[in-house]
Amino acid sequence: MEQIFQPGKLAGRVALVTGGGTGIGLETATQMASLGAHVVIVGRRLDVAEDAAAGLVAQGLKASAFKMDVREYAMVEAVFGEVVHKHGSLDILINNAAGNFRADTEKLSPNGWRTIIDIDLNGTFHCCRAAFPALSASQHVGRIVSIITSYAWSGWPGCAPAAAAKAGIQSLMRTLAVEWGNRNIVCNSVAPGAIGDTEGTRRIHEDAGRAAHELGRVPVGRFGSRADIAAAVAYLVSPAGRYINGTDLVVDGGRQFCFGNA
Ligand code: COA
Repeated sequence: MEQIFQPGKLAGRVALVTGGGTGIGLETATQMASLGAHVVIVGRRLDVAEDAAAGLVAQGLKASAFKMDVREYAMVEAVFGEVVHKHGSLDILINNAAGNFRADTEKLSPNGWRTIIDIDLNGTFHCCRAAFPALSASQHVGRIVSIITSYAWSGWPGCAPAAAAKAGIQSLMRTLAVEWGNRNIVCNSVAPGAIGDTEGTRRIHEDAGRAAHELGRVPVGRFGSRADIAAAVAYLVSPAGRYINGTDLVVDGGRQFCFGNA
């Protein structure tokens, strides 16, 4: 893993990553752990979260795992309470858990719509709400980073619920940046473009047979990597990011300026 900061830059922090067992979430957890944070990996599947945490511990890093469905507020509140009780603080929250699938909107069931909004948007609110007391008490300035997508503002044919949910999260981060800026918490979004080797890119681009087409619209000529996103998150949660509040850090190789999605 590319190291962009001195080892130990996140020492003394407890960082919780939702959906941290795989993909971008795991890469971000690994990056923060390698900088000295204790990372808490939470997810719907306990075995996946536990395997991920064990992998980090085997590398000499600090990690633990909890089962948590971001849709269930009571569960979210209980897990956050347990994390603070067990590890002494919660300093960093990464809202990464997300659901998505391709469906023509005229065929999408109301329950399909609700499921994505529930995981992405409601889940992010649940985590922010439950994390507030601990983040507000952080000795390092509490950080919230929500992983959104650059198609939150362009929209994306076939992904109406995810695009709408991510736009909602972007708005939530801006509101919380103002509400909580003087409560010792800064809130930002990281917006990935197409990240190769992730479930999202497989579903949206590869399964739809449009990976080459999409690549042609990325100015830098490659899909992003999970490490590109993890590095952006590390910057925001590091001491260097403590005055950044309410921004969207777009990590898409310039894709947002090549108009036209379909
Ligand atoms: N196309 C259309 N509708 C779909 C669908 C698809 N591919 N996948 C799920 N749905 C609908 C279901 O039909 C159901 O609606 P219904 O009751 O009207 O039939 C509703 O969504 C809920 O489905 P269910 O399977 O019970 O939901 P779940 O809680 O198990 O979660 C996903 C389903 C799709 C959200 C989840 O499997 C997922 O997101 N996995 C991938 C994660 C991912 O890609 N992350 C990266 C995001 S970029």
